[in-house]
Amino acid sequence: MRKGILSLTAAAAALALGLTACGGESGQTTSTSTASAPAAKAGKIGVILPDSKSSARWETADRKYLQEAFTAAGVQYDIQNAQNDKTAFQTIADQMITNGATVLMIVNLDSGTGKTVIEKAKSQGVPTIDYDRLTLGGGAAYYVSFDNTKVGTLQGEGLVKCLTDKKAEKPIVAYLNGSPTDNNATLFKSGYDGVLKPKFDSGDYVKGPEQSVPDWDNTQAGTLFEQMLTEQPKIAGVLAANDGLGNAAITVLKKNNLNGKVPVTGQDATVQGLQNILAGDQCMTVYKAVKKEADAAAKLAVALAKGEKPTAASSVKDPETGQDVPSELMDPQAIYFDNVKDVVADGYVTKEELCTGDFAAKCTEAGIQ
Ligand code: BGC
Repeated sequence: MRKGILSLTAAAAALALGLTACGGESGQTTSTSTASAPAAKAGKIGVILPDSKSSARWETADRKYLQEAFTAAGVQYDIQNAQNDKTAFQTIADQMITNGATVLMIVNLDSGTGKTVIEKAKSQGVPTIDYDRLTLGGGAAYYVSFDNTKVGTLQGEGLVKCLTDKKAEKPIVAYLNGSPTDNNATLFKSGYDGVLKPKFDSGDYVKGPEQSVPDWDNTQAGTLFEQMLTEQPKIAGVLAANDGLGNAAITVLKKNNLNGKVPVTGQDATVQGLQNILAGDQCMTVYKAVKKEADAAAKLAVALAKGEKPTAASSVKDPETGQDVPSELMDPQAIYFDNVKDVVADGYVTKEELCTGDFAAKCTEAGIQ
């Protein structure tokens, strides 16, 4: 409650600042303003995306849906990508505030730098939204994401389903976890551990090698998985935390003629991940309807930029401070060969980009219209 009052004050202060700071400003390549002025003049919203390599989603989905939502609301915005550079991340935040941002939305690269940015913004009366990744100990005004433990549960259940389909006996399961500095990676792991640990404990499955991939670096994931497979050539299933890590494992499995025999999981429903599923090399992915996440975050940001105090549907406890962060959490969906078509029907990927070359026949087989 106390926190809520603080953010209201911050938002009001931010609005006052924004009204003067934003006047007459224009023209960064990534920023847009609408032709028709909104009824209540709002401040400017700054968004910092993390990188463009750890997952295709940030540039192909998040940027697009956020742009659409801000444009529809008639607010000024500036979306930039830190390209996995923590120093650049902080510089971008400073510049956004200097250039009149009255709300900041960040996808942190780690909680430490995220926290620095949030605190600096707060000191300037600029409220922040943790977008997709919670900044531990950060104290953002809001957090918008998916139910990330559920994402991990779906991955664990997916791997069990695919191993069962393959009638695997006492399969050795390897883990390629996400970045150790991403709170989401911790939540995904707690989700799949919840499903797989009982299998290890009962002796149905055998726990194989496990590695966390720094910064979700796909290239490093390939090297790590190569080492894992050398150490344990009988790996029979791979819990990979996203499609990029999954593809890194699949590339190594292909070199060893094991693709399609060893199920691999993923996340993000990227074109590459979905094509790997169509080819039979990837067992499943988790579709997160990013449009819903972007719309929810944009709605909060627009309200804050107008000096309002929006309410969030739920809250999440920051494990470091014990404080409740007002939150909006969306529902993820498991995707297998048979429902790849759902992702296309939802408009997240197009048939044209998915069903290229040899995938055309697979698309027909999977009922993709
Ligand atoms: C996101 C995933 C993404 C990963 C790597 C996570 O925080 O939730 O969707 O694949 O970061 O960018």
